[in-house]
Amino acid sequence: MERLDDPGYIAKLDKSKMRMLIGNLPDQFSMASKSFQEAKLNLKARFSSVVVAGMGGSAIGGDLVSAYFSSTFPAPVWVVRDYEVPSFVTRNTLLIAVSYSGNTEETLSAFEDGKGKRARIVCIASGGSLMEMAKSESIPFLTVPGGMPPRCAIGFLSTSILLSIGLAFDVSGLTTELEEVGDVLKKMKNVLEPDNPVKKNPAKKIAGKLAHKLPFVYSSSRMTDPVARRWSTQINENAKSLCHYSSLPELDHNEIVGWGIPREVSYASHILFLDPGNLSEKLRRRLAVTKEIISQMAEVESLTASGTGNLARLFSLVFLGDYVSFYLAMLNGVDPTPIERIDLLKKKLKEGH
Ligand code: PA5
Repeated sequence: MERLDDPGYIAKLDKSKMRMLIGNLPDQFSMASKSFQEAKLNLKARFSSVVVAGMGGSAIGGDLVSAYFSSTFPAPVWVVRDYEVPSFVTRNTLLIAVSYSGNTEETLSAFEDGKGKRARIVCIASGGSLMEMAKSESIPFLTVPGGMPPRCAIGFLSTSILLSIGLAFDVSGLTTELEEVGDVLKKMKNVLEPDNPVKKNPAKKIAGKLAHKLPFVYSSSRMTDPVARRWSTQINENAKSLCHYSSLPELDHNEIVGWGIPREVSYASHILFLDPGNLSEKLRRRLAVTKEIISQMAEVESLTASGTGNLARLFSLVFLGDYVSFYLAMLNGVDPTPIERIDLLKKKLKEGH
């Protein structure tokens, strides 16, 4: 654990400065809001559904926005990680094609499929084929700054998706919510940064508990489901470690029974329950009882969101998870930035293997 307080150790391992990219997240929301206003998109139409098409680090923003809208929004917001869009897509669908690189084959294919189904499309990318096609076909597009791993652009991508849907459906109050996200994350950053020592830094402490364990991230409600997924994928990609995620209330109807066998896995697991801090009474009770039962077989703890609005609550947990995955990478002795297997796989597919 002392290694986490050693700037020399961190700088040597974190060759591409992932710590700075994670620390830049609080500024992304206002920057993306400004770019969105400047883009002056015209999305006036009567939409009955929204589909966000993307993969990996480009899709998760769609999940977060969908979760944010889930209890208030009049239309379904579907996230599609596939080559095709759902068959319900018509000219009344707003299709948001998101690819940070602009070159992801599933997203390009979903874009073409959506075009064939005559959806109204918005493209979000930092460049690549998606951007070129949008430009050449006069399809509305939003540019996000390039030069970072897609997973580090989560604030830019989420804000662009959120505001596009907000514009299409005339949703008010989003700018205020986004401002709160930036404010809450800026405060958290002071506590979570590498120069804050282990004894005062919750992200370092959590990483210490996860080291050499199998992390389980349990969402306590529909709203935090994508946050659990984000924790898991950040631990995969940054810390190069397996991680499992699941959700309440569903896990109470199956996965809870699995705890105990294999016994070695239960003992070697650490469970983090994500609590948005504004659970309904039913879910709050369920979370408490589930924790009590599983704690007989594995280490458990709850992490509660910060902020008042739902968007700030969601991103406060995302931000904490990003830092935890970074410190876990340091404890695992790996450089958080490279994702060699993903790069290799994309290369092989491109070569026609
Ligand atoms: O984290 C990553 O790099 C991946 O999950 C990518 O986001 C994913 O492969 C899709 O690429 P892109 O975001 O460029 O569309």
